[in-house]
Amino acid sequence: MRVSVIGLGRLGLVHAAALASLGHRVVGIETNTERVGKILDGTLEIHEPGLADLVRSALTDGTLDVTSQPSTAMGARVHFLTVGTPELAFHEGFNAGYLESALRSLVPFLQPGDLVVGKSTVPPGTAVALAAQLHRESPDAELAWNPEFLAEGTAVRDTLAPQRLIYGVSSQEAAGRLDEVYQPILDTGTHRVITDLATAELVKLATNAFLATKISFINTIAQLAATSGADALQTAQLLGTDTRIGASHLNPGLGYGGGCLPKDTRGLAYYAQHAGAMEAAQFFAQVDIINTVQRQHIAEWVIAQLLERQGSQVAILGASFKADTDDTRESPSIALAHVLISAGLRVRIADPVVVASCGADSRLEFVRTAEEAMREADVTLVATAWPEYRHLNPEALLPTVRRPLIVDTRHCLDSENWRNASWDYRSMFNLPLH
Ligand code: UGA
Repeated sequence: MRVSVIGLGRLGLVHAAALASLGHRVVGIETNTERVGKILDGTLEIHEPGLADLVRSALTDGTLDVTSQPSTAMGARVHFLTVGTPELAFHEGFNAGYLESALRSLVPFLQPGDLVVGKSTVPPGTAVALAAQLHRESPDAELAWNPEFLAEGTAVRDTLAPQRLIYGVSSQEAAGRLDEVYQPILDTGTHRVITDLATAELVKLATNAFLATKISFINTIAQLAATSGADALQTAQLLGTDTRIGASHLNPGLGYGGGCLPKDTRGLAYYAQHAGAMEAAQFFAQVDIINTVQRQHIAEWVIAQLLERQGSQVAILGASFKADTDDTRESPSIALAHVLISAGLRVRIADPVVVASCGADSRLEFVRTAEEAMREADVTLVATAWPEYRHLNPEALLPTVRRPLIVDTRHCLDSENWRNASWDYRSMFNLPLH
């Protein structure tokens, strides 16, 4: 089938290339011409495992076209809207403006019977408003909502092998058209569930807010473990083995970051507030506060370890908000670095793929390797669980630091190994936080 995908960011490019790999003829439309050029010449702006190969082979075999011209959507029978819905301002809800203008740019090229499918994360009510816009401007086309649950780092796999597909639709015809798009995935036994538009919107937002809540929950339990002498990591693991709870997103640490969990949790709080659900609003606002305060606690602990602030140096390993991505949006490690720099410390941050971060303090020094960051360091903090950090050699690093103190906020290192090599190894669970 001929399909268009409008917006080729972290969601849209993966979606477009994945649909091409399923055998569809896909046109990807992106208004940012610089991004179009980079996709076409194979120098993707984003680090996402498997994506470059998928895009390259789709471009080579002609199943994927990438342009900046909305007119190329003409002839496609399904049009996916995958543009961003950034926060309007901190705590002020989502900006649906990119969705509205993507739809407006598409309308002149729609044909009767075309299906427009929103994939972006939005509060309930957005799809109904866009459906009304579409009905006014192109009455013979229909709007559906099909939320995406891919996580960065595993985006290609998550797109091609989703846990289930959710179709927010207003007609059987729309569901049938989406079945045609996803047939190869459905053939593998993947379920699809039909909902109304608002349910499809809410289930996505609720999923991210729930994952954020789990992380803030376990971080509060980790604090209680620190005050009670309990083992926080073992507590988390045992909670996770209760099948009613589940193990994912129960890793205590620096807290969550990225372009989704923080924004979506605040967005749900904003939505709840405007719906008059004040307890719900306060609940999600508190999840966000716990997340922010978590890194503040860790920064304070680090500062307290240093006998003299002036001239002290901290190495932070990992700048991205999690491993296997170059995304630094709301990265907890960069937020932590800012607090330490403001306290007068010198901070060097290493990351295998991030070379600098927009908005980062200019005093923050970016280096490539852990070894460079740790040279002369008084404290080393592992902030992102990049696999390469597991293979660091504690014996070789010992003479290069000023003080062999390592804080493993993602507990991804082999603690025995580091302790045996005379390092003062701490995971954050035994930090006295107050
Ligand atoms: C998240 C959701 O997991 C996806 O389902 C969703 O589609 C996506 O947002 C989106 O809305 O686009 P992502 O932001 O890529 O995906 O990252 P996660 O793997 O969920 O991790 C989010 C943050 O939580 C990271 O900073 C991670 O380090 C942190 N985290 C995760 C913890 O602190 N503890 C954990 O146990 C798990």
